[in-house]
Amino acid sequence: MDLAVIYDSKTDNTKQAARWIAEGMGRVEGVNAGIFHVSEADNNAEFIRGASGVVMGCPTYAAIMTPAMRDFLMGAGKLGLAGKLGGAFATAQYTHGGAELVIQSILVNEIVLGMLCFSGGGSFGKPIIHLGPVGINDNVEKHNGMDNYKEYFTVYGERFARKAMELFS
Ligand SMILES: Cc1cc2nc3c(=O)[nH]c(=O)nc-3n(C[C@H](O)[C@H](O)[C@H](O)COP(=O)(O)O)c2cc1C
Repeated sequence: MDLAVIYDSKTDNTKQAARWIAEGMGRVEGVNAGIFHVSEADNNAEFIRGASGVVMGCPTYAAIMTPAMRDFLMGAGKLGLAGKLGGAFATAQYTHGGAELVIQSILVNEIVLGMLCFSGGGSFGKPIIHLGPVGINDNVEKHNGMDNYKEYFTVYGERFARKAMELFS
């Protein structure tokens, strides 16, 4: 089963998060995860169309998603995402910087596209991931740093892949 992780990133924190999600997906037997920057989505449309689930994520810009992610979502109708499992993640500079608003907004866009949205919520126990995983880099808050959040992304990716297998394999 193919799953896709589509991300926007300028300084690679969100790219790293996308890689960790794909790493977690790869822990599930039979899953092949493809990782694409939003600018590469069109060139990989065939893979994305054939994927059973797509997780999307981006940096937090002024407490909303990046323009590139919004542009991607506005044009995503052609990718046939309806009926696929959908998920979202974000990175930010501040713990209070609005990353969960970004995730919420991506999930709303996915619902509009007809996707079946997944967070895991409290159903899998700890770590409880209410909407989607968030990573805070250490550009400003020195007690943070993406490595501190790695497990959330890998665990989320694994849970997402298990659910996709349960639903679609
Ligand atoms: C234009 C701009 C606006 C930003 N706005 C926020 C913000 O509202 N809240 C926040 O916590 N971080 C904000 N950041 C920081 C980024 O979200 C954060 O550094 C992110 O991890 C960068 O991801 P990337 O390395 O994948 O590009 C902003 C960064 C830029 C460039």
